[in-house]
Amino acid sequence: MAALSIVKYGDSVLETKCEPVTSFGTLELRKLVVDMFETMYVARGVGLAAPQVGVSSQLTVIDTSSGEDPSKQLVLINPTIVKREGSQIGEEGCLSIPGFREDVRRAAHVVVRAKDIDGNDIEVEGEELLARALQHEIDHLHGILFLNHLSPLKRDLIRRKIKKLQKAGDW
Ligand code: NI
Repeated sequence: MAALSIVKYGDSVLETKCEPVTSFGTLELRKLVVDMFETMYVARGVGLAAPQVGVSSQLTVIDTSSGEDPSKQLVLINPTIVKREGSQIGEEGCLSIPGFREDVRRAAHVVVRAKDIDGNDIEVEGEELLARALQHEIDHLHGILFLNHLSPLKRDLIRRKIKKLQKAGDW
């Protein structure tokens, strides 16, 4: 088990559509999933997508209990949102965009179909925080960040702040 380093905003892998996973149940895939959970817990996140550790594959891990309840651990491979209902507005951040949090509007309730680590079909339903995490992480697999959901004005403001941090070597 090893925490991986998290890719930060500015790296093109975060804005690239990920490739579907085609081989399941492999040692390599299991190791990646274990390492992604470890990385997410160390960083105190509730979700982490493969591109955030530099792997451009449609794979994400989520745990809305932050490691408190093992039954909350989710591994979603090649996920798609098949149903969205209602709407919620809430503060959202991203481990790849540390220090920035903004209100983002999301569906209140979603149903997701995906594969598990062995390639079995699974369906996950989520509301509130889980619905938000599912939408945020699945966005990542399409190269979309929470910044893309903000007004152009807010997005540009954050981009400018990040550019300053990058220039100062603080990013
Ligand atoms: Ni994120």
